[in-house]
Order: sequence, then C-alpha cells, then structure tokens
Amino acid sequence: MTADQGDGGDQADGGDQAAVLIDGIGRLVTNDPTLGTGLLGVLGNAWVVVRAGSVEAVGTGTAPSADRRIDVAGRCVLPGFVDSHSHLVFAGDRADEFAARMAGSPYAAGGIRTTVAATGAASTADLRSRSAALLAEVYRAGTTTIEIKSGYGLTSTDEARLLGVAAELTTETTFLGAHVVPPEFDGRADHYVELVCTEMLAAAAPHARWIDAFCEQGAFDADQCRAVLLAGRDAGLGMRLHANQLGHGPGVKLAVELGCASADHCTYLSDVDIEALVGGATVATFLPATDFSTRQPYPDARRLLDAGGVAALATNCNPGSSFTTSMSFCIALAVREMRMTIDEAIWSATAGGAAALRRSDIGRLVVGARGDLAVLETTNPIDLVYRPGVPLIHATIVGGEPFR
Ligand code: NIG
Repeated sequence: MTADQGDGGDQADGGDQAAVLIDGIGRLVTNDPTLGTGLLGVLGNAWVVVRAGSVEAVGTGTAPSADRRIDVAGRCVLPGFVDSHSHLVFAGDRADEFAARMAGSPYAAGGIRTTVAATGAASTADLRSRSAALLAEVYRAGTTTIEIKSGYGLTSTDEARLLGVAAELTTETTFLGAHVVPPEFDGRADHYVELVCTEMLAAAAPHARWIDAFCEQGAFDADQCRAVLLAGRDAGLGMRLHANQLGHGPGVKLAVELGCASADHCTYLSDVDIEALVGGATVATFLPATDFSTRQPYPDARRLLDAGGVAALATNCNPGSSFTTSMSFCIALAVREMRMTIDEAIWSATAGGAAALRRSDIGRLVVGARGDLAVLETTNPIDLVYRPGVPLIHATIVGGEPFR
C-alpha cells in the first residue's frame, strides 16, 4: 500500500476537509447488495473517497482526483470490523485458569471475581495504559468500532472509574454492574441488585450508552436482570443482555421481550428462543472465541439464520473466557464450527455488529457511512477463513486516516 499527495493539495492545506481517495481495490466489500454482488455487495476494481471522516463516493473503474491517495495495490477492502462485545478494561490475567480448563476444569461465572480483585487494586493510570495497549491491538486487527463494558468494578466508584476509562476509548460504553454478585453481598443478591439500580447506575450512567446484565445460573436471574435493564432504560441507556451462555435459560426471551439491541452469547438456543429472536428486534450476538476458550459447544447459528434471524459476531475480549481481540479468528470459528457461510460470517462481523449497536453509519462502505476500512493483505476475503491464524490485516483506516 502506498500513500501520496494527490493533485488537489496537501494534508496541511486540506485539514479535516481533505478528500482521501482509497483506490486500487481489487475487491471491495460494501455490505450493500444493491451496489455489488451477493450478500456482501462486492465491487471489483473499486475506489472509495472519504472526506471529513465519512464516505463521500464509492465507485469502480477510473477514480476521481482527491487531495490525498492511498493505493492498496489490488488488495481486498472490507468495512472495518465492528466488535460489539468486549470487556477491555481490566487488570491481571487468568492464564492459569485457562490452562486448568484445557486440562478439564469447567468454566464458572465466579472466576469474574478474580479479575474484580485485580482490577480494584490497579491504579487508573495502569488501567488506562493496559486498555490503550489492547485497543491498539484491536485496531491492528482491523476493528474500527468496539463496544467496551464495565463489570470488573462492582462498586459505584469502580464501575464509574472503569467506564470513565472506557469512554476515553470508545463511544460504545456499557454499564455491567450486574456482572456477578460481589463477595460482600453473598446471600444478599437482591440487595446488590438494588444498589446497581440506584446509586451505582447514577454514578455509571454519565459515562455509558448501554446497560447490560449477566443472566445465568451463578450470576443473576431473569427478575433481577429485568429490574437492572429497566432501571437503565429509565436512566436513558440502551439495553443489551448476556443470555444463554452456559446453559438454556430465560435470557434470550427476556432480551427480546424488553427490546434489547442484542442478546449476547446465545450458545444454547431452544426453538422458542429462535422463534422469539426471529419475531423480535434483537440481534443474536455470537461469541465463538468464548466457546473455544471455555470448551463450550458452539452455537447453532445455522438454525437461527435459516429461520430468518439476524446475527452478529464479536470477540468478547476479556481475561477470563475469551482473551482475543481477533475478529478474523471469530469469523473462521463461525464458519468452521457454527456452519455460517463465509459471506454470512463476514457480514455478521461488520454489518451485524453495527446492527447489534443500532448503528447505520458503520459496518458498510456506502455514501454517508464512516470511512472505516480494513485492508486485507490478500485479494480474497475467503482467506480470512482459508488462512486461519495468519495476520491478514494489511492496514486499518479510521475515518479515512491510516491507523499507526
Ligand atoms: O461474557 N459472561 C460474563 N462475562 C464474561 C466473562 C468474564 C470473565 O470470566 O471474566 C463473558 O464471557
């Protein structure tokens, strides 16, 4: 990939209003089937013009002139990945817990408390520098939008602190005070839920766009999750829910009933869950790197998609159940283990993630969308699955600017 000044001026003159032409695109995934072929709306020999952070024009053949030019030399370009589920702000790691799992120990929600203790002991400066380093890894892996949850604080002060750090990194921040019951509330889960719905929510809401809860045995039941989500909604937050991760349960149905943007995990889906998702406005967000890392079965995405449901793919980056930032890895797992087609998996990691965040300005490369692009090393998007484990992101372009 080469970058040069075009015939219209230079970066200093153009400032934010400069037109940036990305051309030499062998295959462009637009995610708009009216623009190109198939579900992904693929265009050959294509170009994109970005101005002031947004796509101004998309086309094929002869490219218009612009202030600056980035020639991607025949490579494939996708919309930047949209990672709609992560827990990026934390301290410590749980490598030993992972190794024990690989030797046969089961995953349990209670491990979250280990990270809560490590995170509580970390300074804010330390949390900032760890999460900024992880965010750089996220961008290098082709992701241009990431959602970040709290949930390793579990006190009003610490949940607000984690969300404050997250809000420095993304606008897609989620308050997850109802992640697990902290030890000081053992046997008094309802008292903890009351705290989450009142004082903790008041401290967290100024830094959050979303509210979430972990609906699972060992975490919170449906009534507790309903109370938390509705309190968040009344405080102006959008709703999402961790549902059906470790077993069948009421989470997916609750998420749909409340109109959550997303039900996340969906590892266990009954026919009733699928019917609810298909009839509702909730995206099923699959997190296959979690099922990989916790030795869970993989979700039956095929059943949901064949029934007409909408799916997103996300990393769930966290130190306990899924310590990866790689959307490419999730795409490969979704195809190999969840029977998604390659196009469905790529769509779910881009446009699907955007739908799970209720955003129409990302996950697509169309006029008016953000100029967020992932440039592959190769010419063919199939390589994301065909060449698993190989770093295939040549460059990430955010709002028209290459990420460095
Ligand atoms: O999505 N399920 C709840 N939260 C995380 C796990 C976090 C942890 O184990 O630390 C998840 O898998």
